[in-house]
Amino acid sequence: MIKHLLKIIILLCFFISCKKADKTTVTTKGLITKNAMVVSARAEASIIGNDILKKGGNAFDAMCATQLALAVAYPFAGNIGGGGFMVYRKADGNIGSIDFREKAPMLATKDMYLDENGDVITDKSTLGAMAVGVPGTIAGVFEVHEKLGSLPIEDIINPVIKLANKGIVVTKKQEKTIKKYQPLFRKVNKDSIIFDKQWKANEIIKFSVLANTLKRILKHGRNEFYKGETAKTLVKFIQDNGGIVTEDDLAKYEAKWRKPVTFTYDDLKIISMAPPSSGGVCLAQIMKMLEPFNLDKYGHNSLKTIQTITEAERRAYADRSFYLGDPDFVNIPIETLIKKEYLNGRMSDFTFEKATPSSKVSHGNIQIIESDETTHFSIIDQFGNAIAVTTTLNGAYGSKLYCSELGFFLNNEMDDFSSKPGVPNMFGLIGAEANKIAPEKRMLSSMTPTIVEKNNKLYMTLGTPGGSTIITSVLQTILNVHEFKMSMQEAVNAPRFHHQWLPDEIRMEPNSFNRNLIKNLEVLGYTINEKDSPVIGKVDGILVLDDNTYEGGADYRGDDTAIGF
Ligand code: GLY
Repeated sequence: MIKHLLKIIILLCFFISCKKADKTTVTTKGLITKNAMVVSARAEASIIGNDILKKGGNAFDAMCATQLALAVAYPFAGNIGGGGFMVYRKADGNIGSIDFREKAPMLATKDMYLDENGDVITDKSTLGAMAVGVPGTIAGVFEVHEKLGSLPIEDIINPVIKLANKGIVVTKKQEKTIKKYQPLFRKVNKDSIIFDKQWKANEIIKFSVLANTLKRILKHGRNEFYKGETAKTLVKFIQDNGGIVTEDDLAKYEAKWRKPVTFTYDDLKIISMAPPSSGGVCLAQIMKMLEPFNLDKYGHNSLKTIQTITEAERRAYADRSFYLGDPDFVNIPIETLIKKEYLNGRMSDFTFEKATPSSKVSHGNIQIIESDETTHFSIIDQFGNAIAVTTTLNGAYGSKLYCSELGFFLNNEMDDFSSKPGVPNMFGLIGAEANKIAPEKRMLSSMTPTIVEKNNKLYMTLGTPGGSTIITSVLQTILNVHEFKMSMQEAVNAPRFHHQWLPDEIRMEPNSFNRNLIKNLEVLGYTINEKDSPVIGKVDGILVLDDNTYEGGADYRGDDTAIGF
C-alpha cells in the first residue's frame, strides 16, 4: 500500500514538474529520422517541404516550396517581397550557393537617407516605401528550381496556394508579434491591411490575395513577378507610397550563383555564404582564430571559453565592418582575411588576464545595427542532398508596407547599407565605405546559411535569424556539437552570448549564465548586457548521426518545427 502511495506521489511530482516546464523545456534529443528532414520556423512550412520530399522531390524542390510556404505561414520574415541566400551540398559532394539578396534601386544614392545637415533621417531606411530594396526571392526560387529541382513547378507551388487559401492557425507567439507591430502597420499603410485585425491564437488567417499572386506566378513563371502584371502592380504601389523602385529595377533583377566560402576547423570542413553576406568570411575568421585553443578542455560557456570566443568575435567584426560589401562593387581580400597567419596575428595580443578594449582593435567607429528578424530553414533529402537557406524581409514584417493588392509585405533591406559611412580613422581609412549605398548594389548581410562536412561526409546543415548575432549563433551551435559533444537539439537550446566589437559588450541571453561567471568576466574588464537580447538567434539545423540517421534541432525560442520521415 505504502509502495503504491509512493508511486502515486512520484508520478504526481513528475506531472507537476512537466506542467511547470513550459515550451522552453530542454529536450536532449530532437526529432530523429532515417531518410529526410525539414526544419523551419513553422510547422506548416516544414510539412509542405517534407511532403515534397515524400513525393520524390529533392532538397531543392523542397527548398522552393518551404521558402514560399514561409511567406504564407510566417510573414514576420518569410517572404516573396524580400531576399536571401542558399548554400547547398549535393549527395555527390558538389557544393554551391545562390544569392537572391535584394538590390538598391537604380535611383538610389549614397546620401538618400541623410538630411541637409548630413544627419540620418529617422525611420527613412526602415519604415515605408523608401526602405524597400528590389526583391530577389522569386528569382531565387525559380533559379534553384530550374538548375537543381526535379519535380514540375506545379507540384511545388500548388500546395502553397492551397495553404494560402486554407489559411494558417495563429500561434501564441504570432498573436503577440502581430499586436506589437500594429501601430507601425497603421503608421505606414494608407489603408487598412489584413494584419490590422486583433488576431488571436488559434484563429485562422486566410491569404486568398497571396494565393492569386502565386497562381499568376505559377501560370506565367518568374517573369510575372519581374515583368508581368504583378511587377506593374508592385511598382505602382511602391511609387504611390513614395518609393523609388521602377519597372526597370524589377526587370533587371537576377539571382546570382556564388562560390561559397570554405575552410577547415579540426576535422570539419565548413561551407558557408560568401559576400554580399559577411557570414562565411566572419565565421571563418572567428573559427580559425579559435582553432589553436582547447575549448573542449575549458568547458562549455566557461570563463575561458567565453573570453576566447569573445576576443575572436571582437576582432572578426572589426574587419567585417571595414572590408565587406557587395563583391560586384568592392574588392574584398577574402583569401587574406581568412588566412591562418593573418588570424594568428590578429589574436597575438589576446591574454586571459584582461579584456582587449575594442578601441585597440578597431579600424573605424561604425556600430553594426541590424535587426533580428530573419528566418532560416534546413533540409536534407532522402538522396543525401543538403541545403541551408536564410531568408529575410530585414525587420519584423520588413518595411511594414503591405501590398494588399498582391498579398505580401515588402522588405526594408535598404537599412542594411551603411547610410552614413564613418569618418576617417587614425590610418586615414574610412569604415563602412565598402557598404555604402550605390544603384543596383546589394547591401551587406550577416545571414550565414552553413553546411558542415566531417571526414568528407555531410555532417550538419544549419543557420539562424538574428541580424549581427547570426554569425555567432551559428558558431556556438557548431562548437556545441563539435567541441562539447552535444546533441543537435541541445546545441540549439544552449544559452548563447554575442560580441560584435562595437558596442564593446558581451550580450547574453538573460538568466541563462551563472552569476559568478558574469562577475568574473566583469572583473576582467568585460561589460555584460543581459537586457537587450531576450533571445539570441533561432537556430534550425540537422545533424547526421553516426548511424546515418538525422537529428533535427528546432529552436524552442520560436515556433520552429522539425518534420521528417
Ligand atoms: N537583414 C539581416 C541580414 O541580412 O543580415
